Amino acid sequence: GVPTSAVNAKSASALADSLMPRPFRTDFFQPPVLKADAESIDPADGKKVLHYTVTEEAASAQILPKAGLLTPILGYNGIFPGPTIDVYQGTKVELTVVNNLPLRHALGGHSLDTSTHLHGSASLPQYDGYASDITRPGFQKTYKYPNFQGARTLWYHDHGVHHTALNAYSGLAGQYHMHDANSERLLPRGKYDVALTVSDAMFAANGSLGYDDNSQSGLWGDVVLVNGRPWPVMKVQKRVYRFRFLNCAISRSFRPTLSTGDPLIMVATDGGLMPSAQPVREYRHASAERYEFLIDFSKYRTGQRIELRNLSNKNNVDYDFTDKIMAFDVVDEPVDTTDPTWNRIPSTLASSEVMDLQESKSSKTRRFRVKRDNGMWTIDGVTWEQVIASNYSKVAAEVPLGATEIWEFENSSGGWFHPMHIHLVDFKILSRNGRAPFAYEKGPKDTVYVGEGETVRLLMKFGPHEGKYMVHCHNLVHEDHDMMVQYRVGAAKDPDPNDPMEAAPAVPAGT
Ligand code: C2O
Ligand code: CU
Repeated sequence: GVPTSAVNAKSASALADSLMPRPFRTDFFQPPVLKADAESIDPADGKKVLHYTVTEEAASAQILPKAGLLTPILGYNGIFPGPTIDVYQGTKVELTVVNNLPLRHALGGHSLDTSTHLHGSASLPQYDGYASDITRPGFQKTYKYPNFQGARTLWYHDHGVHHTALNAYSGLAGQYHMHDANSERLLPRGKYDVALTVSDAMFAANGSLGYDDNSQSGLWGDVVLVNGRPWPVMKVQKRVYRFRFLNCAISRSFRPTLSTGDPLIMVATDGGLMPSAQPVREYRHASAERYEFLIDFSKYRTGQRIELRNLSNKNNVDYDFTDKIMAFDVVDEPVDTTDPTWNRIPSTLASSEVMDLQESKSSKTRRFRVKRDNGMWTIDGVTWEQVIASNYSKVAAEVPLGATEIWEFENSSGGWFHPMHIHLVDFKILSRNGRAPFAYEKGPKDTVYVGEGETVRLLMKFGPHEGKYMVHCHNLVHEDHDMMVQYRVGAAKDPDPNDPMEAAPAVPAGT
């Protein structure tokens, strides 16, 4: 098989065995959809703007099976995952994030200065969650999201400089769905359009989250959470469902597969619908990637249980159910067969600008080597610390606005895989070690699995905004130590009206 974790991970919870959760004993739970506070019209272009607020808060959650044994978390509106933001293409969003967190992280001891990134959005630099553009406790920032892109599953998460892993692990992450006419017509909607935010965790003896990053390599928790619940069971009707699977684990990759041997019908990748659906028996799913697939439950019998399993390496500890993710129990509820998506398995989905890009349009090829140097994770030998030391002037690439380029990530250092994420753009995977990308990767992407000994070639067009954007490993432990650089679209400007450190600073909460 394809390795998904390069260590023989031994992370284990310290909970007494009787307090440990077991698979398939919890009901599936969907995070609530966030309600807008207000609506307005942007005078610049007459477009509708929805205004939302989320407050980052310390809270506690019932994750473990013993009633009252609560786990302290950090959450948007105090819940993990945060509420889902659900919007239609072309409607702009202004999201105010209020930092109401304590001054310091209970486990890490670091200052809880946050920066909110909407992963998958082509935001202006000052609204992109630039890691060093922090909002301190007691402050807030309003992020503006253009939402001109096609339907896709995005997610918002903390990106606070050097502490993203612990902050996201503690719960600062949520999904954001963008719909468009095509996705609405082709794919199941409403309660048949299901968010799966999948992560892993380990627990201390008192029920709080444990943290062990294996010497800044990665955390492989022994409990799998789906929407914050351990190995839940979802009741499903005999029809087609759409699942938006986000791997929100800070390090772990999954290899999802169905216990029936039936395929998952892959319909969308990070950047939205694929040109055509791809049935796959299993696939490799790294941190931050989003894959959307259909499962057709119409052919199963009432009472049948179908497991979504994980073929990745086990944790190699006594207690280990990390080979399971969740289960579906087929129920005998009447199916609304007037809904044309109830049994539709579309084959042709949607073309997109990035999937239509031609390699011959590329004006430049750049290669980035990812590896560990003197204990630090680096991109071509560079770390975010060096970007800070340059007063944010050091850039790994300067790309003309509108240019099409090939970027290659080379991981030849061995022993590790890196999910590499480029902010602002969607890209098309041209090849992996000279061979065609996997079937399930044949869609628009913003994060790519770069396995041990792999070199991947990516094609993308830079825009529509100018400015500085980050590139980093989405194993968040690597990102924090310190595998992140930035590139710039367009020429340097001084002063720069879109400088991520100056253009839209945080303001005191409540203003
Ligand atoms: Cu998911 Cu730089 O982020
Ligand atoms: Cu990495």
